[in-house]
Amino acid sequence: MNIKYLFEPRSIAVVGASRDKGKIGYAVLNNIQSGGFSGKIYPINPAGGDVLGIPSHKNITDVEDDIDVACITIPAKYVFDSVKQCADRGVKYGIIITSGFSEIGNLREERKITEYANERGMRILGPNVFGVYSAVSHLNATFVSGDIPAGHLGMITQSGALGLTLIGQATIENIGMSTIVSVGNKSDLDESDLLEYIVRDDFTRVVLMYIEGVRDGEKFIRAVRQTTREKPVVIIKAGRSEKGSRAAASHTGSLAGSDEVFDDLIRQCGALRAENLKEAFNWATVLANNPLPKGDNTVIISNGGGAGVMATDACEKFGVTLYDDPERLKAIFAKSVPAFGSTKNPIDLTGSAGGQEYLDAFDAAVAEDNIDSIVGIFCETAIMSADVLETAIAGAYAKIKASGKLIVFSLMGGQATADYVTAARKRQIPVSDEVYDSVSTVGAAYQYKKYLEERSEADNSAPALDFDATAITAITANARQQGRYFLLAPEAQKVMDIAGIRIPKSLPAKTIKEAVAAANAIGYPVVMKVVSKDIIHKSDAGGIALDLENDKEVIDAYGAIMESCRAYAPSAVIEGVDISEMVGEGTELIVGARVDHIFGPIVMIGLGGIYVEVMKDVSFRAFPLDKTEILRMIKEIRSYPLLLGVRGEKRKDIEDVIHTIMKLGMIIRACPDISDIEINPLVVYEQGSGAKAVDVRIILKKE
Ligand code: COA
Repeated sequence: MNIKYLFEPRSIAVVGASRDKGKIGYAVLNNIQSGGFSGKIYPINPAGGDVLGIPSHKNITDVEDDIDVACITIPAKYVFDSVKQCADRGVKYGIIITSGFSEIGNLREERKITEYANERGMRILGPNVFGVYSAVSHLNATFVSGDIPAGHLGMITQSGALGLTLIGQATIENIGMSTIVSVGNKSDLDESDLLEYIVRDDFTRVVLMYIEGVRDGEKFIRAVRQTTREKPVVIIKAGRSEKGSRAAASHTGSLAGSDEVFDDLIRQCGALRAENLKEAFNWATVLANNPLPKGDNTVIISNGGGAGVMATDACEKFGVTLYDDPERLKAIFAKSVPAFGSTKNPIDLTGSAGGQEYLDAFDAAVAEDNIDSIVGIFCETAIMSADVLETAIAGAYAKIKASGKLIVFSLMGGQATADYVTAARKRQIPVSDEVYDSVSTVGAAYQYKKYLEERSEADNSAPALDFDATAITAITANARQQGRYFLLAPEAQKVMDIAGIRIPKSLPAKTIKEAVAAANAIGYPVVMKVVSKDIIHKSDAGGIALDLENDKEVIDAYGAIMESCRAYAPSAVIEGVDISEMVGEGTELIVGARVDHIFGPIVMIGLGGIYVEVMKDVSFRAFPLDKTEILRMIKEIRSYPLLLGVRGEKRKDIEDVIHTIMKLGMIIRACPDISDIEINPLVVYEQGSGAKAVDVRIILKKE
């Protein structure tokens, strides 16, 4: 169904329209009417008569016209009957403002309503929403108080109350809105469905989303990815502190707290995650009204050394590159900077600077092709007083914006300066009272620019499966038949082998004699590990012996392993041991793939070894994946320099790490039986020498 008619209805009914000013049914109808909606309006009220001067119907079934949207503002217990009538007579969308459904545990009623509607082709927004606003159709079907200024910011919010706050704040700052929609309980339509409309809405230049959680992560990622190709998406997500440690059967599981995964995945989709409402508004308004910088060079122009230094720190924090060509900077700014100032970036105009010095410096920056963005910092002085700001800022802003460069201003001082900040923001001039706020906005613009540039190079088409997935499924099916939800080491190794991931040479042995033969076949030194489905944590059980150099050591180790494993788990069934080559030293990584309960199949990488959970140096990606995206994920871990080679070491075989992760991704997608695969450690050698999956764990999905 074309979701357009939710935002651009030709006719709208308000079920529960009331004459009582204290009721939501009044507010919604009043907003629709006073907002200038040009479609037909049908108030529905059991008493009939005029409501707000519009003739009402006692029942929606009495309306003869087609109705695109019904706004439902009646108590919960009547909602089902009302939706039933709406669906039966072909209403396309129901906006259920009413609360009292799944958010208080009343899921059954909510499902009943949605199922009935959906079966008849009616879609539901909500319940528990504040409504829909659409600038293009002059529709304010919400119970927001006061007018909403029209503009270019599209907003989707999960929290109604917070959404209302955001609208209030936007109104105070005169930030124009294009679409506003609250998704509430998301019984049917969710943020991904709504993005599909917003991405096509020419009025919307930037999307701002407040999210608490998503139900269908794969759908969400697809929708955000599609939107960010066209326009920036700024996301505020609550729940940073939540840890998704439920399925901690693997490290990947315990490290993949839903928020960490969310953070990485939305970056993968090109969305910008803001820390708080203030940051989100700053980013969204600046991105909606200003050009993206064309190149990477930023200059800071300031009349205060300290503020310049703070801005420099902020640039480092937010990934903003300062233009660093002292000779060229001197040539550009020599005329605007006094002898006791500095033309090194930050450009210090000194406390002697007044409005004209700023204008000269801005003109010089505009004229210079090497400069792409500017942070203008004003510290209030007797010379740079608040009344000079208008000349130095408003005039310069229009000129700089017209030149295609990005400028943001930071103004710091007393009351008069603060008043100017408030007034200038209402005129959409990008000013703030804090250098970090200004620089974080420039950082967001660069983050988005970079995403667009990199995106146009490669367009994530996942390579085709190049191994026999049915052979893996046969292994998992066999384990399942034996009542196991994990694979034994030899089975996991076989899976690696089928997928084409290199593992250390290894052979099973059921007796001492076989162990010695296996060790000789592989070549010393070797490692011996117990094989038992009852012993998962082998080292805790004393089930591993490393660096065995000869037959005698193998014989001794066999006896020692059997003894300590029997003591550790007397009832364990021990099938024998696994003899494998002793792997040479290299960089230890953890790589994994799992089916996330929200986002579906994901892959991960981190610094491996025993400190993996302490270091939490991990990064995640969702599908579709290509080599470029996997490399981006690898580069995100803090330990990435280890792979490039530190202290004279050679670069490691990053290509083989990419290959391994790609294969893990293929396994998890092609074998629905598997929930987690983890290689820890994956030992990575110098470039050209590959990587080896030393320890592999594969966990199967529980029924
Ligand atoms: N069809 C049409 N009108 C109906 C009706 C029906 N089946 N049943 C009741 N009405 C009318 C009522 O007669 C009343 O009109 P009146 O003032 O002319 O008598 C109007 O609908 C509202 O009903 P009322 O019983 O007065 O309810 P209310 O206005 O006190 O509360 C809600 C209704 C929906 C506002 C309330 O139940 C609710 O859910 N509030 C929370 C909303 C919220 O926070 N949503 C989330 C925001 S993010």
